[in-house]
Amino acid sequence: MKRGTVIVIAKAPVPGRVKTRLQSEFTAREAAALARASLVDTLSAVQFAPATRRVIVLEGEPGPWLPPGFEVVAQRGGGLDERLAAAFEDVYDGTPMLLVGMDTPQLRPELLGFEWSGYDAVLGLTEDGGYWCLGLRTPDPRALVGVPMSTDHTGRDQLRRLLALGLRVQILPTLRDMDTPRDAAYLADEFPSLRVSRLYRRLQHAAHPGLLFEQALGGTARVVATGIDGRTVPSLSEVDRWTAPADDVDRLALSRCEGPVLDIGCGPGRIVTALAERGIPALGVDVSPRAVSLTTSRGASALHRPVQDRLPGEGRWGSVLLMDGNIGIGGDPADLLRRCAELVRPDGLVLVEVDPDDDLDDITPIVLRSSTGRRSTPLPWARVGTRALIRHARTTHLHPTEDWRTPHRAFLTLRRTA
Ligand SMILES: C[S@@+](CC[C@H](N)C(=O)[O-])C[C@H]1O[C@@H](n2cnc3c(N)ncnc32)[C@H](O)[C@@H]1O
Repeated sequence: MKRGTVIVIAKAPVPGRVKTRLQSEFTAREAAALARASLVDTLSAVQFAPATRRVIVLEGEPGPWLPPGFEVVAQRGGGLDERLAAAFEDVYDGTPMLLVGMDTPQLRPELLGFEWSGYDAVLGLTEDGGYWCLGLRTPDPRALVGVPMSTDHTGRDQLRRLLALGLRVQILPTLRDMDTPRDAAYLADEFPSLRVSRLYRRLQHAAHPGLLFEQALGGTARVVATGIDGRTVPSLSEVDRWTAPADDVDRLALSRCEGPVLDIGCGPGRIVTALAERGIPALGVDVSPRAVSLTTSRGASALHRPVQDRLPGEGRWGSVLLMDGNIGIGGDPADLLRRCAELVRPDGLVLVEVDPDDDLDDITPIVLRSSTGRRSTPLPWARVGTRALIRHARTTHLHPTEDWRTPHRAFLTLRRTA
């Protein structure tokens, strides 16, 4: 028996072009990888659906994700309504057509084994008011052109249009489509064996630490740093304090500074801003693009660069700062101190905010956890108290000169001697 054609309308999964709403929590590459997995799940359901032909109507280029047995037709037309109408026209071979998108990877082949007798059209709605499936016995642009797409009433409007044309419409089960990170989480819970669900779980547990830090600075998630044992590292979880103006404890530390000052791991720039306000020339460096743009938007100077790379004014800085536990950067305190000794001038000052626990000397990596459920890969970091830092400094040209503390924070200055 002739079963008709199943059409998948899809965009090639190119980063930045697909699933951009997932980018609130995922990088453009990760969002594209999720889109690709969702497309592959969809295509494999379609492969096993009872159909005489399988066609992908594609925007972009086919890739290795396309299984055998699919014809490829390029999308044409302006808005989505026109593209859908054109897809039905271009694919038509005299048999009925069922068209699905790439955002409902949970669809099963049985759902597509639709019996046409007694019907002219098929519609499967989505929970957000759209639709995941539209079937037409014969193409007819009047069925589509002008239906407003991507709204919370597109599904209802589409149904009204089909009925207005006098078509007999079969309604398929309502599905949830994957637009947002919440939808992806739902899929992972409800349909754990899908490719997209497996990838989602992997990404949830292996975010780039930088991405979570960007989200914390952007205010889209709360992020907490923990040791790999799961215990919170408070000094690395204080985004609110970093984004606020410098406080009294900061100002006391800054009163020690001799200009020009290099602030390593400057974050959103409260320290360089406070120095600039005092007329002390200062530059921040940070690996976070958002931290750098927040700093420059405050009118202070910052450079997007890791401290390990070549920096301006090497060997000429009056002071180099490692505030907020930044002695942890890279997970090797002695190495970072040696780098600071290279950066300051011969009698220059290195000011380090150490851990309040004098004896702490912990170089186990940390993990960032976001309120959206993502967890980073381990980030090399160190937590060092005053006594431990003095020990590390013995292998450098830096000599401790002063230490002081407040109830929650502790500091040590060192001076270069050669
Ligand atoms: C504890 S936060 C410091 C917050 C910052 N001092 C402030 O006032 O907001 C650590 C900072 O170090 C930055 N960082 C991490 N690795 C770095 C590296 N290799 N070079 C420069 N900055 C780095 C992070 O992006 C982050 O902004």
